[in-house]
Amino acid sequence: MHDDSSPRVTDGAAYRAVRHPVAAHFIDVLDQRLLPHAVQTRRLASADDAAGAIRDMVVRGAPLIGAVGAYGLALALDTDATDAAAARAHAMLDATRPTAVNLRWALDRVRARVMPLSPALRARAAWDEADAIAAEDVAINAALGRHGLALLREIARERDRPLHVMTHCNAGALATCGFGTATAPIFLAHGEGMPVHVWVSETRPRLQGAHLTAWEMAQRAIPHTLIVDSASGLLMRRGDVDLVIVGADRVAANGDVCNKIGTYDKALAAADNGVPFYVALPSPTIDWNAASGEAIPIEARAGDEVLAVRGRAASGAADAVAIAAEGTRALNFAFDVTPARLVTGYVTERGVANDAAALRALYPERA
Ligand code: MRU
Repeated sequence: MHDDSSPRVTDGAAYRAVRHPVAAHFIDVLDQRLLPHAVQTRRLASADDAAGAIRDMVVRGAPLIGAVGAYGLALALDTDATDAAAARAHAMLDATRPTAVNLRWALDRVRARVMPLSPALRARAAWDEADAIAAEDVAINAALGRHGLALLREIARERDRPLHVMTHCNAGALATCGFGTATAPIFLAHGEGMPVHVWVSETRPRLQGAHLTAWEMAQRAIPHTLIVDSASGLLMRRGDVDLVIVGADRVAANGDVCNKIGTYDKALAAADNGVPFYVALPSPTIDWNAASGEAIPIEARAGDEVLAVRGRAASGAADAVAIAAEGTRALNFAFDVTPARLVTGYVTERGVANDAAALRALYPERA
């Protein structure tokens, strides 16, 4: 019995990054800081809960940050739906993380829907809009996945062995409301029996690849191998990578791609070795107002994330282990920008675009 207003998702596994039980004034999210060693849900019942979960990366990934931001605004309006309170909540949620444009997109969409209404009607409308954003996210990723699947079939046709796909960070079902973006074509290909193998880049410093992507592949029994981020170039040079597909946090109007730190390195290695480099791009992640990557704010997080790694100790306890000498200074940019010239194509819910002009042609209403 599907007992929540979260969309029905058939992406090959039962877990959900976020659930909104029918008529509930809370959402339940998977605490992604504890994966893969513990699968625990956390209830968010206030706008502060939602903001904290985004800031502390209980939830992460551009589309999911957007959806949880939208639910956060609904939670705020449950408490106080006056103009001033709505503006405060929008600003507070928007300030949690600066790079993923989906957050601002989702908050603006909910605000545009509710502010014309009388305060008494705003909270209900905000919950409905947040549910719509979550449902659309799944539909967008499924459609994107189908276009990406056609691409994988095409590349696989020329090979008589499993297709070797490399990815970076986690752009999986955990980063969205279902299917993932970069993982959607992989999940669908595996689902139809195509032999695929995924190179999972660990993604220092927070290890989204090791902790989340490897776990998602294992949940679906998709063959995969964990690598250190710096092994990507060697594997491409050896011909062990048929394509790279990554997610995005913000894509500028000229096609520059902002994604997890380390993505640019992979794009450079792919270009140097003739390996196709695709970006899985749901349309809410396109910032038509950003002329180029230079306009994209890059989040700088605490150096502590670089100075220690989190995992499970031999005792079974989750723990963080310091990797550098006491007092070492660390710099921690969370994202980088891959220039459009290094991107083979953008896999969107409306099809695959091979450059910025083709991307605009897919979204004539925005261009
Ligand atoms: O810092 P994170 O974990 O939020 O970074 C996530 C990424 O960079 C993802 O690749 C991106 O958000 C796309 S998620 C579909």
